[in-house]
Amino acid sequence: MTRSSAPGKIYLFGEHAVVYGEPAVPCAIERRARVGVEPRDDATLRVHSDDLSLDGFTVEYAGSTDGKPDIDVAESLVDAAMGYVDEAIAQVREVTGEPDAGFDVTIESDIPLGAGLGSSAAVVVAAVDAATRALGVELSTAELAERAYQTELAVQEGQASRADTFCSATGGAVRVEGSDCRAIDAPDLPLVIGFDGGAGDTGALVAGVRQLRDEYSFAADTVASIGDIVRQGETALADGDVAELGRLMDFNHGLLSALGVSGRSLDSMVWAAREAGALGAKLTGAGGGGCIVALDPTPETETALRYLPGCEDVFRAELADEGVRRLE
Ligand code: PMV
Repeated sequence: MTRSSAPGKIYLFGEHAVVYGEPAVPCAIERRARVGVEPRDDATLRVHSDDLSLDGFTVEYAGSTDGKPDIDVAESLVDAAMGYVDEAIAQVREVTGEPDAGFDVTIESDIPLGAGLGSSAAVVVAAVDAATRALGVELSTAELAERAYQTELAVQEGQASRADTFCSATGGAVRVEGSDCRAIDAPDLPLVIGFDGGAGDTGALVAGVRQLRDEYSFAADTVASIGDIVRQGETALADGDVAELGRLMDFNHGLLSALGVSGRSLDSMVWAAREAGALGAKLTGAGGGGCIVALDPTPETETALRYLPGCEDVFRAELADEGVRRLE
C-alpha cells in the first residue's frame, strides 16, 4: 500500500474574490486527509472510507471507473468526495500514461467535509500523490498541485481557484493571484476554528456572488475591496502584526457578509468570538455553513464557542509547514 497525507487549510483572507483574479491568502493547518492506494489487476476503482466526517459517519463505497457508485450511499457529501477521487484517478491515469490503471483506495480524514477547510483538496492531493507513486511516477510539488487543480476544475465544472490545492500540496501560508501561486512567510498564528456541523454549497455560493457582481457595481467594488484587504493583510503578515490581521479579518467577514455568503450560524460564531475578545474572526471558505476562523492567543474564544448553541466543534489549529507527506 502506498500512502500519502495532505493538510486542510483556512482562508486568512480573500475567498470568493480570488475567483475574479484578486489575491487570496490561505494557510495550511494540521488537520489531514490520509489516502492509501493499492494498484489492482483490473481497471476498477474501489474506494473505502470509515471516517470522512467528524461525527463518525461510516460508509463503504465501491465505485466503478465511470464514477457511478454500485452501492447506494445516502450521504451526498461523501458522494461528492468520491467524485473527487474518481477524477483524481483520471488525472493519475493521464499523467502516468496508464489509462487502464485500477486501484483500491482507502481514505481517512480529520477534516470536516465541505466546511471551508479544504477537505476535497486534501483528499485529491494525497490521492494523486499516492496513486502516481504507486505506479512508479514521482511528481514535483508543482506538478502535483497542477494535477490536483485540474481535478477540482473538472469536478466543479470550471469554478475553482488554485488556492486550496496549491496550499494543500505545499503547506504553509501561500499567496494566490490567478495562476501565480507562491509561499509567503507567516508568524505563528493563534488560530481557533469553530464548526457549526454544516456545509455550504460552493457552486451555488460562487454563482450567487457572480450574479451580484454582474448586477451591482457596488458588489463589484466589494469584491475589489476584499483584494485591498488581502494586500494590506500581506503587509501585516510580513510585520507579524497579529492585532492588525485580526482587524482585517473582521473587515473581510463584513464584506463576505455583504456578498451574501455568510449565514446565521457563521455570524453567531463570529460574534461569540469577538465578544470573547478574539483579535478578529471571519468565515473561511465558500460560506453558507461550516467553519469560522478566529485569532485568539487566550482560551476565551474556545470556551465561548464550546458553550455556543449551534457550534458543534471547536479546536485550535496549528499552521502546517509541510504540505503533502509521504507516509510509510
Ligand atoms: O469552501 P472551500 O474550502 O471549497 O473554498 C471555496 C473558496 C472559493 O473562493 C469560494 C472558491 C474557490 O475555488 O476559490
